[in-house]
Amino acid sequence: SAAASADLLALAHAIAVHAGESALDARRRGVSVAATKSTPTDIVTAVDRDTEELIRSLILDARPDDGIVGEEDDVHIGTSGLDWIVDPIDGTVNFLYDLPSWAISIAVAERGGADAAGGAGSIDGATVAGVVLNPSSGELFEASLGGGAHAAGRALAVNEGVPLHQALVATGFGYASDLRRRQAEVLLGVLPEVRDIRRIGSAALDLCALAAGRIDAYYERGLNAWDHAAGGLIAREAGARITGPHGGRENSELLVAAAPDLHEELVALLRRAGVDA
Ligand code: IPD
Repeated sequence: SAAASADLLALAHAIAVHAGESALDARRRGVSVAATKSTPTDIVTAVDRDTEELIRSLILDARPDDGIVGEEDDVHIGTSGLDWIVDPIDGTVNFLYDLPSWAISIAVAERGGADAAGGAGSIDGATVAGVVLNPSSGELFEASLGGGAHAAGRALAVNEGVPLHQALVATGFGYASDLRRRQAEVLLGVLPEVRDIRRIGSAALDLCALAAGRIDAYYERGLNAWDHAAGGLIAREAGARITGPHGGRENSELLVAAAPDLHEELVALLRRAGVDA
């Protein structure tokens, strides 16, 4: 129900603020790489792990029966039918270098409902609440399903009516070198056809920038559910059309997000650029 979503959103908001303060304190004390994950460029810092642990304990204190899917930890199976999808620090490389584009991303989703609620080709059909906080700027983006997307009390709306050749398009790159080679090839086809490309370095903030009209479109292959669950709901509630991938732990599908007209044009361009979208 709308009231339940509002309560979940308020809790996600409070937890994100708490976690953001803790991560920002840690950033000020200094950050180093703790380990590499899938490839030598796929890094994790102690702060990613500590922040996820903090978020996990705050969720379980308030809602012990919910499940949790986090980037740095194993899945916690809940019994309530609701799952929290958490990226403690999205934009870890920016965080490591003290570039101010990294975010805490927290979403709440109805388990297993993505296909039923979202329908083929859409995502986040089952995501009921999402919060993305940029601790460096203090900006917090939030949305509940059917309740619109907001930042600092103002409703967010994507840019409408932008033709492809005037579109500012964000994208991102995965960590595996074969994926990056394919992403670079696609970029060869895209860059000459649009206003420009941005690589912000945080999928969650890319989707919020789209929601806020600061970019016109975003696409990326190889995201995980925690990268796009909260930002995807925020962008959709701001009027974006988003196709592929469904929620899931590892996903090689392409996510494309933009106002509906531009979305269609961008998918066609990506196909010409050799993408199977
Ligand atoms: C990464 C960021 C980046 C995107 C990568 C993600 P992480 O998340 O969102 O912008 O291009 O695909 O893996 O590793 O910093 O949480």
